[in-house]
Amino acid sequence: MAMVCLSDFEEYAKKYLPKTAWDFFAAGADDCSTRDENILAYKRIHFRPRMLRDVSMMDIRTKLLGTEISFPVGIAPTGFHQLAWPDGEKSTARAAKAMNICYIASTYSTCTLEEISTAAPGGLQWFQLYIHRNRAVSQQLVQRAEALGFQGLVLTADLPYTGKRRDDVRNGFRLPPHMKLKNLEGAFEVCKMSPSFHSLIDPSVTWDDIYWLRSLTHLPIIIKGILTKEDAELAVRHGVQGIIVSNHGGRQLDGGPATIDALVEVVEAVQGRVEVYLDGGIRKGSDVLKALALGAKCVFIGRPALWGLAYKGEEGLREVLRILQDEFRLSMALAGCASVSEIGRHLVQFSKL
Ligand code: FNR
Repeated sequence: MAMVCLSDFEEYAKKYLPKTAWDFFAAGADDCSTRDENILAYKRIHFRPRMLRDVSMMDIRTKLLGTEISFPVGIAPTGFHQLAWPDGEKSTARAAKAMNICYIASTYSTCTLEEISTAAPGGLQWFQLYIHRNRAVSQQLVQRAEALGFQGLVLTADLPYTGKRRDDVRNGFRLPPHMKLKNLEGAFEVCKMSPSFHSLIDPSVTWDDIYWLRSLTHLPIIIKGILTKEDAELAVRHGVQGIIVSNHGGRQLDGGPATIDALVEVVEAVQGRVEVYLDGGIRKGSDVLKALALGAKCVFIGRPALWGLAYKGEEGLREVLRILQDEFRLSMALAGCASVSEIGRHLVQFSKL
């Protein structure tokens, strides 16, 4: 089967993954309207391409908080990579390093932070944190990540409780017995994923906890899950270095906006004071271009990375990233941009429909 676009990997993963794993990766909350809206919303945005602009030399590199990456796409934090490929997050880390992009490792990884950082020494890695009721566990994770050389701390803000993902409930989804949430081993008696596992996450977290995190680490703090100008303003005032506009791939509150729509108000509120990123629904190079035109510095992919892993581990994920990179370069060139710095709001318009 020739792999030409990201949907080909989705089709493969759907066909070959065990049903419970596929359902877990694909799940959205309730009737999945926000999950699907994340993708549909890109179709309402059209380009205003410019012509005759010498696109013979293309520069698609950019920087994430000062570190150069090969193109403005990274890997969003997702849990349980061993459900997709036996080597799990180690393969993800290697693919990200090979492509010179950022990998955000999830708290709910099936490999330890140590294994992830050793698999790709020198690679750009951020660590994603859920704050647990047992604060000592979270503190220890943050300090372990910093000591290992992770370069950013991503606080996920949109999961005080887990959204209702119907297929996971129907399937009675659990992590298979041979897989462990290795970063939490020993920290809790429960080391198997079940819907109730998420009840270990502290639902009482507030903006003041950013100050608590700040007291634990020198790492830049990036907040993930922001969808409104009000929260964007609060994030800036609480001293974060970056904001990821995200609705958790539509897995949390169903009925919220597509992230590409929410991006506009967040970017307007932030006014360049911190970097703004986006995840959710990125499936083509032209989606990346639209997000950058609307002010994102970089975007992150969640499910497509899992499909790449399910296809061929590290190699499969590299293929996903290479396809996205080629499509992004081509879209830029066809829109008349030879470098990322030429991408701007002038490049897109919203359909009036
Ligand atoms: C996620 N996401 C997520 N986010 C997070 O902060 N920590 C996590 O552990 C996870 N786990 C997770 C598992 C799975 C299977 C999915 C699909 C998603 C959300 C993720 O970081 C990201 O916001 C979305 O996946 C982006 O949407 P797309 O690219 O999947 O459409």
